[in-house]
Amino acid sequence: MTVSPKFRLGVLGSGKGSNFVAIAEVIAAGQVPAEVALVLSDVESAGILEQAKQRGLPHRFIAPGKFRTKLDEDAERAYVAALQEAKVDLIVLAGFMRVLKGDFLRAFEGRIVNIHPSLLPSFPGLEAWKQALDHGVKFTGCTVHYVDAGVDSGAIIGQQTVPVLDNDTPETLHARIHAAEHELYPKCVAAIARGEISVQGRRVRSRDSAR
Ligand code: GRF
Repeated sequence: MTVSPKFRLGVLGSGKGSNFVAIAEVIAAGQVPAEVALVLSDVESAGILEQAKQRGLPHRFIAPGKFRTKLDEDAERAYVAALQEAKVDLIVLAGFMRVLKGDFLRAFEGRIVNIHPSLLPSFPGLEAWKQALDHGVKFTGCTVHYVDAGVDSGAIIGQQTVPVLDNDTPETLHARIHAAEHELYPKCVAAIARGEISVQGRRVRSRDSAR
């Protein structure tokens, strides 16, 4: 009997890893035809590495090098090599706090996704929930998108709205957006793993129009 190989995820994160946990849980529950091939972090003490360890999933810290907001050349090579060795089909950015540049993007073109805590193209960049609150919008949310060379600018795969309440603080709004992320990201990763997503320029279509 031939067992078809599963869709392999490489997950990159710098923080606590709650989105990674949400994805790992639906995979463990058998709801997504994928497996976590490797979890990488640029922060040795990051919760995401501990979460991977607790689940017995391959994980590694790779030092990012001398820059604050991107990987240096050696680090970029090490990340690309580790992900290629792990034979990943898709790279899932889950709170990875460094911008990915040319060689990395070229190595995995069209195969990197990210989640951002706003309804893009509104409020790209840092503290998007605070930007939404300061702007006074009544709805914000989260966006899963492909990664291109810009900041939070790639083609949009899925979005989920979150209302902004009159008594919201940055913390309460951020917490509700985070909860929405934990629903949206696993759904989008599952759709990609199942081959349900097609991309034409900026238009990303899904066989399941609920996204
Ligand atoms: C998320 O809020 C996501 O929108 C942003 O980074 C955060 C990661 O959180 N890109 P966690 O580490 O998954 O809890």
